[in-house]
Formats: sequence, C-alpha cells, structure tokens
Amino acid sequence: MIDAEDSEWSAIADVWAELWGSFADPSRGVVIDATGIGPGSRVLDVGCGSGEFLAMLGTLGAEAAGIDPARRMVEIARAAAPAADVRVGAAEELPWPDASFDVVTAFNALQFAEDTLDALAEMHRVTAPGGLVAIVNWAERDRNDLDAIDTAVAAAEGDEPTPDGELRREGGVAQLLADGGFEVVSAGLVEMPWEAPDAKTLLRGVLMGEDADIVSEIAPVVLAAAESFRTETGAYRLVNAFRYAVARRPAAAR
Ligand SMILES: C[S@@+](CC[C@H](N)C(=O)[O-])C[C@H]1O[C@@H](n2cnc3c(N)ncnc32)[C@H](O)[C@@H]1O
Repeated sequence: MIDAEDSEWSAIADVWAELWGSFADPSRGVVIDATGIGPGSRVLDVGCGSGEFLAMLGTLGAEAAGIDPARRMVEIARAAAPAADVRVGAAEELPWPDASFDVVTAFNALQFAEDTLDALAEMHRVTAPGGLVAIVNWAERDRNDLDAIDTAVAAAEGDEPTPDGELRREGGVAQLLADGGFEVVSAGLVEMPWEAPDAKTLLRGVLMGEDADIVSEIAPVVLAAAESFRTETGAYRLVNAFRYAVARRPAAAR
C-alpha cells in the first residue's frame, strides 16, 4: 500500500513542492487560528507532503511532527522543517503512541487514504483527550476553477468528471468527524487561489505526473479551458475553495 503511494507521489514530489507547496496556505492560516496552535503545541500533520505546514509550525514555536507515505515528500519535508519529526507512513497506521498530540491536521490528504474511517480512528487515537483535529479538503467541483479544466479534459476524452465525494460537500467533513467520535467546534469554506505565471507553468502544474505524449495531446484542451482564467499579463489565476472542519476529541470522562 505504502509502496504504491510512494511511486505516485514521490515521482511528482519535487514539482508539487515547487508549484503547489504553498497552495494550502490560506487554509493553514485558518486552521492555526481555529486551533490556537502556539509555542509548545504538539502538532501532527497527516499527509504532510513537502512540509510547508511543518515549517510554519516551527515559526510558531510548536513541536511539529508529520507523516507521508511518499519517501521523496518526506525528504523534502525534512529539509523544509529540520526540527520536525517527519516519518514515512500512512494515515491508517500512525506510528505514535495514544494521546501524543494536542492538534492533528490533514490538508488535502485524507481523500487518499485507502480507508477514511481507519485513518480517522488513528487520528482520534493519537489526539490527546480535549485536543483538536482539523481536516481540510477540496470543496465541491462547481467552486473550483481547477475542476472546470478537469471537466474539459474529461469531456475531450469522452469521460464524465469524477462526481463530488462526501468530503467535498457542505457538511461532509464535519459529519465525518462527528461520526468518528469528535465534537465539531467550527467549519467553513476558504478561498484558495492558485497562480501560474505562464502557460508552460500552468501545464506543468495541471498535468503534473502525466506522460509526455498525454501532455502534448491534452495541452490544447487545458489551455482552451483555462483561457477565461488568463490575466492581462499572460499569467493564469484559478480560484478554488477548500472546506474545513475543526473538532475536539472529548475529554476523558471523570
Ligand atoms: C495533495 S498532497 C497534499 C500535501 C500537503 N498536505 C499539502 O497540503 O500541501 C497529498 C499528500 O497525501 C499523501 N498521501 C497519500 N496517501 C496517503 C495516506 N494513505 N496517508 C497519508 N498521506 C497520504 C501524498 O503522498 C501527498 O503527499
């Protein structure tokens, strides 16, 4: 399981870090505010990718830990946040003892877990009673310019776009947390712009990981679909949205 994820995400880890590493920043700020992370907070970021949130935690004086199944992602994250405890592994099997963290986060990652409920159970286990979990995921397709491009590509290939899953819909993340035994304390929507300075970068970002022959075949479709997002300078600005929910692991009964 981990090896399969490793080949896929490790192969694109460097371009991910370059073009998408900061993408989640608006939602990272919202989660920091909503959870009150500060000096001494013990925080685990599940599916930490290239480690931008871990680096942010370091600047706040928090004790950061991260986990990701992609070995190359972990290498980049360790370089980005040298003080953090970054491990190779999956959300479904977290290698930390019970109640190790005050806050556990997952940005744009939980949808990749093979079993979302197993992952959530593990996040619950490693969160201290009274601690918080924050889950952030893409909102429904209609809110995302990136999904407009994805829909055009699917149509060109004679496919339907992937329908919105539960995590994307309003209330979906909060419901998942409630079902997982947490008390939801806040939830909302965050605007998530992504910018590419030119067409070449747009294609590198949108078609990350695709073979060269597929890129040359699909590039015209992507560029046509992205035309309405092109700015006067020739850059592209895609506005998207993430949904988040923050929830508390109930304190142990007295
Ligand atoms: C879209 S990236 C997001 C990375 C980072 N959280 C961010 O917001 O920039 C998804 C990440 O989830 C990781 N991932 C895939 N399967 C996973 C699993 N089962 N458990 C935890 N992380 C997983 C990938 O390796 C990848 O780094």
